[in-house]
Amino acid sequence: MVNWGVIGCGGIARRRMIPAAPHFQKSRIAAVMDVNADVTNEVAREANARGHASIDALLADPEVQAVYIATPVFLHRDQTIAAAKAGKHVLVEKPIALSIEDGREMLKACRDAGVYLAEGYMMKYQALHQKAREMVLAGEIGRVVFARAQLSCWYPDIPGAWRQNPEQGGGGALIDMATHLYDLLEYITGSRIVEVSAFTDTLTFNYPVDDSSTTLLRFDNGAHGVADAFFNVPDSAGQDRLEIYGNKGSIQAEGTIGQMPGGKMAAYLSDDSAGYDPQQSKESLNVAVREVSATPVNMYAAEIDAFSRCIESGEAPQLNSGEDGLHVLAVAQAAYESSRTGRAQTVTI
Ligand SMILES: NC(=O)c1ccc[n+]([C@@H]2O[C@H](COP(=O)([O-])OP(=O)(O)OC[C@H]3O[C@@H](n4cnc5c(N)ncnc54)[C@H](O)[C@@H]3O)[C@@H](O)[C@H]2O)c1
Repeated sequence: MVNWGVIGCGGIARRRMIPAAPHFQKSRIAAVMDVNADVTNEVAREANARGHASIDALLADPEVQAVYIATPVFLHRDQTIAAAKAGKHVLVEKPIALSIEDGREMLKACRDAGVYLAEGYMMKYQALHQKAREMVLAGEIGRVVFARAQLSCWYPDIPGAWRQNPEQGGGGALIDMATHLYDLLEYITGSRIVEVSAFTDTLTFNYPVDDSSTTLLRFDNGAHGVADAFFNVPDSAGQDRLEIYGNKGSIQAEGTIGQMPGGKMAAYLSDDSAGYDPQQSKESLNVAVREVSATPVNMYAAEIDAFSRCIESGEAPQLNSGEDGLHVLAVAQAAYESSRTGRAQTVTI
């Protein structure tokens, strides 16, 4: 069992990670801390954990072996470095940092201190996404040629919100939500994004970050992709679609992308022995439609337990390493650069 400290007990920590504790197998929340003392006290009671008045006090807690950092993005760098110096392993929420340079410093601080750094793109732990990856890697849909992921929500102007302040969040819908999609599409396809072209705009709201983002992707196996992330689509309208197309079939899902373990997924596997059909009469095609099912898992519990297992076994995180988090940030930075310059960008770290 690994004892955890939570730094930042707001939205995601209080709404998803801490309530996931009954599903934890290898992890226990021992201590919590928020800059807001009332929140610290309330969450300490809810989580049956010690509440600390400062980050220094939490990092000095000898029982805490690892910290989950769920604060606004501009705080990730300094808090991760402080935790590493205190000898704590770090699971930092996404995106890893505001800049590649900050992310590099975080990785170095963790390396120097001999602790692990993992990032918080937890959608890889959604059971249906794991199934989709297995199918793709087993060649069931053939060679992947196109992959699309969509995530949208309704996020209006909120005075003082850190996500609406470029200095605090690093951008808008693209860095906040499209980065989940880059990470997820790389995971399912088993390929890295090497080139991007993007539009980002603020079409609906008045804040100085993007509420609209579309990123065209090229993967290292040559496949194309699209990640569309919008803050200005009503929650009732966005279906958060996932579509992976190969030269032997496709996998298509709705509602699997997000914070909850549900959604539905189907595979369309073609009998391509029929060859070329000049009529394109799709009705007569021999397509096997298969529902893809999996036992739902709580992604936050799976994510924290996976990291606890790494800490206990001494094996560095594979699925959500800090290096992968930095790569995803590099994709986002290249996408913003493309949006500014109007030119496709190669992803480099
Ligand atoms: N993986 C996911 O599903 C997911 C979902 C939402 C947010 N996130 C990420 O989690 C992080 C937090 O987002 P959120 O939506 O929970 O934000 P939030 O604003 O709801 O909560 C942040 C909390 O951090 C606290 N805080 C601020 N400064 C602090 C400090 N110096 N020390 C300690 N606590 C401090 C705030 O008081 C607040 O309670 C971000 O990186 C975000 O991108 C991840």
